[in-house]
Amino acid sequence: MFLMVRNLSIHFRKIEALKDVSMEVPEGIIVALLGANGAGKSTLFKAISGFLKPVSGSIWFRKGRIDGKLPDEILRRGISQVLEGKRLFRRQTVLENLDMGAYSRHDGRKDITKDRDELLERFPILKEKAKVKSGLLSGGQQQILAIARSLMAKPKLLLMDEPAQGLAPLVIKEIAETIKKLNESGLTIMVIEHNVRLALGLADKVFILDNGKLVFEGTPASFSEDEYTQKVYLGG
Ligand SMILES: Nc1ncnc2c1ncn2[C@@H]1O[C@H](COP(=O)(O)OP(=O)(O)OP(=O)(O)O)[C@@H](O)[C@H]1O
Ligand SMILES: [Mg+2]
Repeated sequence: MFLMVRNLSIHFRKIEALKDVSMEVPEGIIVALLGANGAGKSTLFKAISGFLKPVSGSIWFRKGRIDGKLPDEILRRGISQVLEGKRLFRRQTVLENLDMGAYSRHDGRKDITKDRDELLERFPILKEKAKVKSGLLSGGQQQILAIARSLMAKPKLLLMDEPAQGLAPLVIKEIAETIKKLNESGLTIMVIEHNVRLALGLADKVFILDNGKLVFEGTPASFSEDEYTQKVYLGG
């Protein structure tokens, strides 16, 4: 299995943010992770990226156990979490931000520049704004830059925590198309999303967390047939 989470529990003092969560993510798909505020979605991503240590359970990525490894090591193994747009280096240009996304790589300047130039072709807005400080970009442009920055690490799995948050509908559509295109080029993507319609439209597989527990797992098609989702999301 590409990514496997087994019986994962994470606590913050008395709060049980994740309770015995198990999930499997095959390579090549888009996964949407849904759930109310405080359900444990971001906690799960932080555990996968190595920023939080589980109290019990394990996380496996491409046959290697990664829980307990440092974030840098996990990034080198191929898991990259997209920064929130506002956590980019605001005083650095688009190009400088992209270069910083490659910090985990050991290959030479030439390879990094080549990959960066490819990304500029893929995202023309970044080429246009290459020398502009990222703090001066619009919200949507910052989000594109944040995604491109993550891609500079050459990940195999991309984690996106609410990439559409705070963006206008047209921009959200653009981000959704970007996610689909990246997936078509072979990248496995997990995305946390509050907008159920958007999530169902994007994902091959949906997981729902409720109060730290995994309460639903299935395809978008099976979403409407499930008792839990009917009650909570479809007003049945
Ligand atoms: N650093 C922390 N210290 C203490 N409690 C935390 C910490 N981070 C998260 N929690 C708690 O863990 C639970 C899960 O939080 P988490 O951020 O994972 O939820 P979420 O599903 O991402 O919610 P949202 O949709 O609001 O982003 C919540 O009760 C939250 O208050
Ligand atoms: Mg969150």
